[in-house]
Amino acid sequence: MAEHGLAVVLGTGGIGTALRDELLSRGQYAQVLALGRTTEPAFDVTDEARIATAAAHVAAQHLPLRLLVLATGFLHGDNGQPERSWAHLDSAYLQQVFQVNAVGPALVMKHFLPLLPTTGPCVAGFLSARVGSVGDNALGGWYGYRASKAALNQLVKTAAIELARRNKQAVCVALHPGTVATALSQPFAKTGLKVRPPAEAARELLAVLAGLNASQSGGFVDHLGHTVPW
Ligand SMILES: NC(=O)c1ccc[n+]([C@@H]2O[C@H](COP(=O)([O-])OP(=O)(O)OC[C@H]3O[C@@H](n4cnc5c(N)ncnc54)[C@H](OP(=O)(O)O)[C@@H]3O)[C@@H](O)[C@H]2O)c1
Repeated sequence: MAEHGLAVVLGTGGIGTALRDELLSRGQYAQVLALGRTTEPAFDVTDEARIATAAAHVAAQHLPLRLLVLATGFLHGDNGQPERSWAHLDSAYLQQVFQVNAVGPALVMKHFLPLLPTTGPCVAGFLSARVGSVGDNALGGWYGYRASKAALNQLVKTAAIELARRNKQAVCVALHPGTVATALSQPFAKTGLKVRPPAEAARELLAVLAGLNASQSGGFVDHLGHTVPW
């Protein structure tokens, strides 16, 4: 039944695409929009002008934005790999990982959170990672990725407080999707680690988002709905 306004997924990677497919197959929202660097309009989390254009496109749908998921993120690429030691810390990689995982999401908050309705339920979920948890860091390594996701978590908490002043029913959370078989995790998939297909992660994440209430806004939850320590 199409009744719930607009759902928007930002980022068309493994998890973003699975979220879009699952939302489309459910037909629960009047409209589902998925935007990434290759869509029209393009959404690039590292480019504020494109973030603003994408937000204007969403606003132009004239439907209440009931679900927003930011599914972008960077761990490894041309600018480097996650660090195993402080000896590997590198300015270009650190800037890239902070740009994609923290600065970009902050600008997404700036342009998209004002689009959430001021009445009625609405949810904004930001894909984070358990390794961004300071309390859960037992293994070390991955300095840049961990720190950028910890920064994202603080941004989510801060935005949730501001969002609650606009709409008492609104929810804004950081999400850990579990280990999912995508390009991001592929080089690090170890034997013994439970790696799930993106479709399964998408179903779990949507179930968690649907079950959240305003008292849980500003939290950090995993794909099973369990709270992750900061
Ligand atoms: N996979 C896992 O096991 C796992 C575990 C914990 C957390 N996560 C988190 O889940 C989220 C989704 O990851 P995924 O597994 O779906 O990874 P993915 O398939 O690699 O997708 C990454 C997404 O980030 C965007 N992106 C990556 N690098 C970018 C760059 N340099 N500039 C602009 N955009 C960039 C891509 O944009 P386009 O759509 O434009 O290509 C894509 O949408 C991320 O936040 C990740 O940290 C994943």
